[in-house]
Amino acid sequence: MKTLITSALPYANGEVHIGQMLEYVQTDIYSRFLKLIGEDIIYMCASDMHGTPIEVNAQKAGIKPEEFANKNHEKNKKTFKKYLIGFDNYHKTHSPENEELSNYFFDKMKKKGHIVKKKVEVIYCEECNRSLPDRYVRGTCPQCGTHEQYGDVCEQCGITLKGTDLLNPKCSICGKTPITKDAEHYFFRLSNFTKKLTDWLNHNKNLQPEIKKHIFGWIEKGLEDWCISREGPYFGFKIPGEKNLYFYVWLDAPIGYVSSTKNYCDKGECDWKDYWQGKSRIIHVIGKDIIYFHFLFWPAMLMAADLNLPEDIVVHGFLTVNGQRMSKSRGTFFTAKEFAELYNPEYLRFYYAKNLSKKMTDLDLNFGDFKDTINNELVANLGNFSYRTLSFIDKNYDGEISEIEKDEELIGKVKHIVEHVEKAYHAFDFREAVKGIMEISSLGNAYFQKKEPWKDKEGAKKAVGLCANLVRSLSILIKPVLPKMSVDLEKQFGEKDLKWNKIAFDKKIKLKEAKPLFKKIEKLPEKTKKFPLKMKVAKIVDVKEHPKADKLYVLDISLGKEKRTIVAGLKRYYEPEVLKGKHIVVCVNLEPAKIRGIESNGMLLAAEDGINVTLLEAPKSKPGDDVLVEGYESDDKQITFEEFKKLDIKVINGKVVWEKSDFHTVKEEIKVEGVNDGAQIG
Ligand code: 2FM
Ligand code: ZN
Repeated sequence: MKTLITSALPYANGEVHIGQMLEYVQTDIYSRFLKLIGEDIIYMCASDMHGTPIEVNAQKAGIKPEEFANKNHEKNKKTFKKYLIGFDNYHKTHSPENEELSNYFFDKMKKKGHIVKKKVEVIYCEECNRSLPDRYVRGTCPQCGTHEQYGDVCEQCGITLKGTDLLNPKCSICGKTPITKDAEHYFFRLSNFTKKLTDWLNHNKNLQPEIKKHIFGWIEKGLEDWCISREGPYFGFKIPGEKNLYFYVWLDAPIGYVSSTKNYCDKGECDWKDYWQGKSRIIHVIGKDIIYFHFLFWPAMLMAADLNLPEDIVVHGFLTVNGQRMSKSRGTFFTAKEFAELYNPEYLRFYYAKNLSKKMTDLDLNFGDFKDTINNELVANLGNFSYRTLSFIDKNYDGEISEIEKDEELIGKVKHIVEHVEKAYHAFDFREAVKGIMEISSLGNAYFQKKEPWKDKEGAKKAVGLCANLVRSLSILIKPVLPKMSVDLEKQFGEKDLKWNKIAFDKKIKLKEAKPLFKKIEKLPEKTKKFPLKMKVAKIVDVKEHPKADKLYVLDISLGKEKRTIVAGLKRYYEPEVLKGKHIVVCVNLEPAKIRGIESNGMLLAAEDGINVTLLEAPKSKPGDDVLVEGYESDDKQITFEEFKKLDIKVINGKVVWEKSDFHTVKEEIKVEGVNDGAQIG
């Protein structure tokens, strides 16, 4: 039977990151495994190119959305190749096939009475001349009053919203207040499918039970009509017969699964309907954030279009890095491309496989654990067993062993594990598969050690031959996870394209060469980001007038143990008595400078909006405490005043911010009052 597997289509809105790569690795391992056991499977994917974010970002980049999306499409395609993701086809949703099929779906849905047109209120920005999707409106949550919330959900209280619910809404693109207006939109009557969807969920035994429970919860609440059109300007497909209405990106995105198949089949010998209407198995692999679309909308669309329903939808959790969400300021955000520049992409494949099962739980990429896993398991176990065995044969037996030890006990154990590994792969339980493979490698290592072939080379020859058979079989077993390494190993045996049924324990050995497979990881993938200023809390001890300048004060400050003198132009803004005793923020790595004859050793930081000047203060902190920028390490290097001036530090919402990160001490955030937002720090 034919199998078709897919991963979610990544938006062509930027580069794929290591979190997304988890899904492609997961799908690829399964697809490669089925190919390895001789099944007929294709892996289809594509770039998801439509929608507002891509359209808006293209505009920012000053290019057409299609060009913008194509650029990212090409970049990501290259990255997928680096990670050995073996798509049988990687297409685009902005393609003739996808337009044709989107119309096909829409037509079918309409003819069967599942589409209605309804009047709705939309948010419109007169400045930008466009309707705004919920994500492009920000305002105050009507339930809890939190400011700056998106129009779809309040991050504070979690209530789901419509853009029109927000109080004091603002357009995210231009910041102006939008208006509401009436519009007509197309809706898909999802509730028409309540019974059919329930039956499908009940009968499908593959779907993860914890997710089914979730979906039934949604169904019980009642399925609402789904708005499937958007007004122009919009990057997408125009709805036939409409002037300014386009299909919503989430309508044509999953259809991309089908159109990628069509594009693939049109290039070769098949028909897309063999997969989507004939006898076939369809498996989708997705992340937990897009369950609603794949368990409700998409199957209902397939039902309406008389196409096959997925036999399984495998849902994985999110990737966390060092126990937390990936974050640019913590230095734990990596694009897949960046990560591939640091490590062999097969290392990440191995780490993911070792931690993946068919569960929706999150997977943590802990950098220390990553290093240990690669060094202790991949290098010290599998790599070591392969290389010590093959190099021993190369050196001592001229690369050849024709008689192989029949150690029934060891072979029996290994065969048993092989069966287990096969079952685990079938069940998307890659963690178990890897565990079994490592067990075989450990058994092999121990066997080699026990035989001590270096003591009696001829006597142990047959046993070493059995070890080589284990290595050869391991190269087949690990192939779905480490396809490149596996091919490298095959080559050493002078073989190629070994399939699962070639696993054996009695093959004569005739090596081509013996080479080490992996290198140890030396460094953790930390990205430390530097902030050029070193700042401390200082107490103003004394304030004197500058003898030679009427705008300047000379301040004696205490940084705890250290005392310094600084010169500051504060006379117009502060009385000496007010300044004395204040805990302020001082930059301590600025090059000392003589100011009208007095050496100033550092600089106090103040916010200035053109009219008002306010000192940055840290009243709850002690003199000498560090002032830090979230996610950055302070640099000790001295900087010049010119370099300092180039730093764009600003006041936003009363907080001091550099590159989106806040200033703080261990005790408090640095806040400023009395200046307008946007005030510069100098
Ligand atoms: O969430 C996303 O990244 C979407 N681009 C996934 C689309 S999956 C499928 F429906 F096309
Ligand atoms: Zn606007």
